Amino acid sequence: MRYVSVTVPAKINLALRVGGVRDNGYHALDTIYEAVDVRDVVEAWAADELSLEMSGLGADLPTDETNLAMKAALLMKREFGAKKGDPACGLGARMKVTKKIPLAGGMAGGSADAAGALVALNALWEIGAPLSQLEKLAAELGSDVPFAVRGFVAHGTGRGEKISPVRAGTKHTWVILSQNEGLPTPAVFRHFDVLNPDAADPASTEELRRALNSSQPQDFARLLINDLEAPARALRPDVAALLDDLKHAGYAVLLSGSGPTVLILSDMDAAPELAEGLRHDFPNYTITVARGPVRGAHVTHAE
Ligand code: C5P
Repeated sequence: MRYVSVTVPAKINLALRVGGVRDNGYHALDTIYEAVDVRDVVEAWAADELSLEMSGLGADLPTDETNLAMKAALLMKREFGAKKGDPACGLGARMKVTKKIPLAGGMAGGSADAAGALVALNALWEIGAPLSQLEKLAAELGSDVPFAVRGFVAHGTGRGEKISPVRAGTKHTWVILSQNEGLPTPAVFRHFDVLNPDAADPASTEELRRALNSSQPQDFARLLINDLEAPARALRPDVAALLDDLKHAGYAVLLSGSGPTVLILSDMDAAPELAEGLRHDFPNYTITVARGPVRGAHVTHAE
């Protein structure tokens, strides 16, 4: 194969319940992921060496092995190079990531690129690994990379990497308020520990999982919850003020992952007008309308 293009969605957490730190250094999570149609594109061309180019929102990001897409490519080489009859692991590719998912925004943009690279190179190098095998590799790259491979709605446990599908009865429309200044995930988790020194097991997301199966939007909005909201608020007073303003205005508001991206649950008909009003009232934010659930990383074009 000479060329492959893969599209990969951002994620939000409809519920993110956080417990204490486990022996592996990660927090125990009970979460419900939803993939939404804000997408990065990962392209790959056959080449002798591995290389990476970033464009769009991520144009300034490093392209060495600190970039999760490059980490994913190196992992694919290690895992499959020898099996392809190439003990020197000479598999190469010129990769290009075009980013639309906000950086350090709590929408798993870096994880999406890693998932996109796994799926792209699986196709380009004609490895033919099943999704279940890619998900295992994905877990080595980051807690929410397996979900970016799978997409739709899933229940996440462990550190977020153990996923099982959840059937969602309806589609959801979100108005997303993102901004230039990101919030590093580790800092938010660390501050969670400061606020919750005795955290043990995460709370259950069972009620929301049950509600997702029904078509009761009222119930659904009430059950949206994020345990990282308190630490994100403490670290970023501007995010706290934005959440408060939107809550007082009567919206169903949710912090996305570790933030600082903020989500408003809307409906398809009302969302464009709501977005327009918010662009006027909050000129410092980028306002986007997104829908979910959508499919995870997949090939859209190959030749
Ligand atoms: O797994 P991933 O590399 O994406 O996680 C990024 C950071 O987020 C971790 O280094 C850790 O600080 C924090 N994290 C955590 N508990 C989790 C997931 C992430 O503390 N379950």
